[in-house]
Amino acid sequence: MRRVYMDANATTPLLPEVVEAMRPCWTEHFGNASSIHLHGQQAHAAVDRARETMAGFFNCHAAEVVFNSGGTEGDNTAIFGLLHPGDHFITTSIEHSAILEAAKRLARDGVETTFVAPLSNGLIDPMDIRRAIRPETRLISVMLANNETGVLQPVEMIGKVASETGIFFHIDAVQGAGKVEFDVRRFGCHLLSISAHKMNGPKGIGAMFVRRGTPLEPLMVGGSHERRQRAGTENVPGIVGLA
Ligand SMILES: Cc1ncc(COP(=O)(O)O)c(C=O)c1O
Repeated sequence: MRRVYMDANATTPLLPEVVEAMRPCWTEHFGNASSIHLHGQQAHAAVDRARETMAGFFNCHAAEVVFNSGGTEGDNTAIFGLLHPGDHFITTSIEHSAILEAAKRLARDGVETTFVAPLSNGLIDPMDIRRAIRPETRLISVMLANNETGVLQPVEMIGKVASETGIFFHIDAVQGAGKVEFDVRRFGCHLLSISAHKMNGPKGIGAMFVRRGTPLEPLMVGGSHERRQRAGTENVPGIVGLA
């Protein structure tokens, strides 16, 4: 029997050219990107090139790209890094559990969440987002594409609501990346999360767009990697594979 893999929203296989791009990062260019000697500098240069590629992908500055471990980390970082006790958070009832469970945990710390429900066609109505806004609303998070239905959400219109009301806006773009046209400026978001393994890249690596000036506290501390926004020795093969 010939098996055909059709679960590409769960994950995708690595493309051969991605394996080839990553291979030297495990072998001759295995250095720590923070080391000042030649091996480190080679790794550092590979990360810099990947950051430029990702900046082109997002349509942002290289300094606004933060590499991390994937979509779950990006979603968690947006929520735990921006919300404080007393804040109000708006998201939807159809987000990935990386958003829903993080919101549940924050409820223990006095952050209330409104879960906006979709219409019968799977779309989130931007007016329902607007109606949920309160004086203490600090963050809105809506996915670009739903992981079960594939419905594309009107993130651009939600971005306008966020900018008119001065509220931070995060997009979980894990299921949209590599499938629909991307432009974080057009989306009007402050934060956006993607994951490599949903688009023929390696697992355990992702990136976040963090708009300059967004007061996002890092989830991981312990080093000055990623401009102090995400501590931890860079996963150079993963970063190159994502780019
Ligand atoms: C919409 C969405 N967000 C976040 C994630 C989590 O991404 P990762 O597997 O990189 O942690 C997924 C993965 O299924 C997803 O579909």
